[in-house]
Amino acid sequence: MLVTSVGKLRLEKPGMVASGIMDETGQSIKRMLRSGAGAVVTKSIGSNPNRGHPNPTFTEVKGGYINAMGLPNPGIELFRDEMAVAAKCGNVIGSIYGSSPEEFSGLAAKMEEYGAAAVELNLSCPHAKGYGMELGTDPETVGSIVSAVKSAVNIPVWTKLTPNTHIIGGLAMAVQDAEGDAIVAINTVKAMVISPQFGKPILSNKFGGLSGPAVRSIGVRTVFDIRAAVDVPIVGVGGISDWRDAVQYIMAGASAFQIGSAIGTKGICVFETINKDLERFMTDYGYGSISDMVGVAHE
Ligand SMILES: Cc1cc2nc3c(=O)[nH]c(=O)nc-3n(C[C@H](O)[C@H](O)[C@H](O)COP(=O)(O)O)c2cc1C
Repeated sequence: MLVTSVGKLRLEKPGMVASGIMDETGQSIKRMLRSGAGAVVTKSIGSNPNRGHPNPTFTEVKGGYINAMGLPNPGIELFRDEMAVAAKCGNVIGSIYGSSPEEFSGLAAKMEEYGAAAVELNLSCPHAKGYGMELGTDPETVGSIVSAVKSAVNIPVWTKLTPNTHIIGGLAMAVQDAEGDAIVAINTVKAMVISPQFGKPILSNKFGGLSGPAVRSIGVRTVFDIRAAVDVPIVGVGGISDWRDAVQYIMAGASAFQIGSAIGTKGICVFETINKDLERFMTDYGYGSISDMVGVAHE
């Protein structure tokens, strides 16, 4: 009943682990693949090892978290060992970031070689200079990166977009024109928090990205807008912590969803709970499959 597909990729369960949470090592990915998730998206990986921003990089706010980790990761060469453990256990989506079409293509080819089921292009991180959202808010740049990666690999190419834009439809069209296989939305919302006592921003980077329940309605609206603009499979993410949140994203147009912050607040059992509750909702309301619910809010 919960089987779904994101384009050509079939998933036994519609929930995935979002990039950046419990997905930095082979063992943690393996554990998450056994928790009731249909796939795990890796931490975003770049060409070289990156320490990320200095602390403080993470803080809790009402309704969620603000982080400015700055994409810490071991680099694509060392990540080979983690993928060797993870990729044989289930669907692993390799998230990558770079600063040019060539860099993205090289990283995607490595992820394919390591056994990734798809690649997810991080064109949406709000706190990494020269990367992420700085590239992902220009339709031409988005199109050229997606096109280049499509020519470099045979696995599906997903593009993760930012909500920090007023041209989400134009960005989605750029992905569609470049024959991208899916759009993932949303990454975190650019945000900041100031300490009254110190009279300064709390995060060393000043700005970070807001995640958790506070961003859910922005995410649902963004997915709705993307679905209205293009005919590309969508993966919804942002503030999902129970079946009700997941169904909102599906009805807005997503074929599958991802969970990040709620793994921190609810633990890894969040996937089993959602799977069980989702099945009960679908039975009660006469939906025979996930695809029956996709985009119904547009009708
Ligand atoms: C600590 C942390 C690290 C993250 N790292 C990444 C990352 O490396 N790449 C990426 O595309 N998104 C990253 N994200 C964003 C999440 O994948 C997700 O898009 C966002 O948090 C919204 O979902 P949520 O409300 O379920 O957390 C990160 C989020 C958090 C909280």
